[in-house]
Amino acid sequence: MKIGSLVLENRLILAPMAGITQLPFRRLAREAGCALVVTEMVSANGLVHGTKKTVELLVSHPGERPLSTQIFGADPVIMKEAAQIVQSAGADILDVNLGCSVRRVIRQGAGAALMREPERLEAVLKAIRSAVSLPLTVKMRTGWEPSGEQAIRTARIAEYCGVDAVAIHPRTAIQGFSGRADWSLIALLKKSVSIPVIGNGDIQKPDDVLRMQRETGCDGIMIGRASIGNPWIFAQAIDLIHSSPPRRPDLPKRLHTVLRYIEYSVNHFGESRAVPIMRSRLGWFTKGLPHSSRFRAAIARLKTRQDMVDAVQAYFGYVQTAARH
Ligand SMILES: Cc1cc2nc3c(=O)[nH]c(=O)nc-3n(C[C@H](O)[C@H](O)[C@H](O)COP(=O)(O)O)c2cc1C
Repeated sequence: MKIGSLVLENRLILAPMAGITQLPFRRLAREAGCALVVTEMVSANGLVHGTKKTVELLVSHPGERPLSTQIFGADPVIMKEAAQIVQSAGADILDVNLGCSVRRVIRQGAGAALMREPERLEAVLKAIRSAVSLPLTVKMRTGWEPSGEQAIRTARIAEYCGVDAVAIHPRTAIQGFSGRADWSLIALLKKSVSIPVIGNGDIQKPDDVLRMQRETGCDGIMIGRASIGNPWIFAQAIDLIHSSPPRRPDLPKRLHTVLRYIEYSVNHFGESRAVPIMRSRLGWFTKGLPHSSRFRAAIARLKTRQDMVDAVQAYFGYVQTAARH
């Protein structure tokens, strides 16, 4: 798959998820085989004002490349400046958020609000396109009503403004995560524009990737929630694409992944910030394993990096022994 001048290894993409697709998580997803990772949404205002926490979100690592950085905002001048900052920081793709429907984003006219303001949208995309040379994408929802007309109009505006690919999560802005993603809109969008279309929404297991591709004809497939604590979904989907049986992550592989997640998090956040973050995350990787609730209770008390490593090794050792008996 190609996005502008960038050739991707395969068609699988990690979806942007605020508070989740931070650098350590993105590295795991990339190592598991997805071709592209996306940052969480980054405030264009925050970038332009140099807000420390926002600028930190641009930090990258060679192990996760290529990286798409997603920005949100509504002011063409600010968005243009933010796009230049993202380009200077070395991102491989710039993505514009047209799908977020949380109140603080909508109130500023950003995210999904731009889908009902075609003139502003055009101004924003043209301003960005004129300012940066890196491949440009947008990620949107169905819009504000279920017909999908706003999505098609938005994609056509994007194509006209020089956007290189469009991703869609086909739920309305009002729907949140309720109901089901309407994949028929992905198929309709694919017929409506000639730039690549990335389908997203409700991929729960590896074979859903094949089903989405078959049912919609989309070029790329983006996976969000199903990859949380389960980066192996990418490797398994790649196996299926190659008509091979999907590799199952055995216990040593899971353990190795969790230990890498701890290492990447400590390297990125520093130990004192990483420990509280990891307390709520290590449990993601043990869902479905025996006594995982006991493990989750234990990790809630961890204080240091070594405590985390010890707890994870002890738990996986226990599961391995239990499996032999
Ligand atoms: C916790 C969480 C945070 C999200 N943050 C973002 C975001 O920052 N930018 C964005 O475009 N979409 C965001 N999304 C939406 C996802 O990218 C994706 O469109 C949605 O989860 C549907 O895909 P899935 O069914 O594979 O999870 C978020 C979703 C979740 C669950």
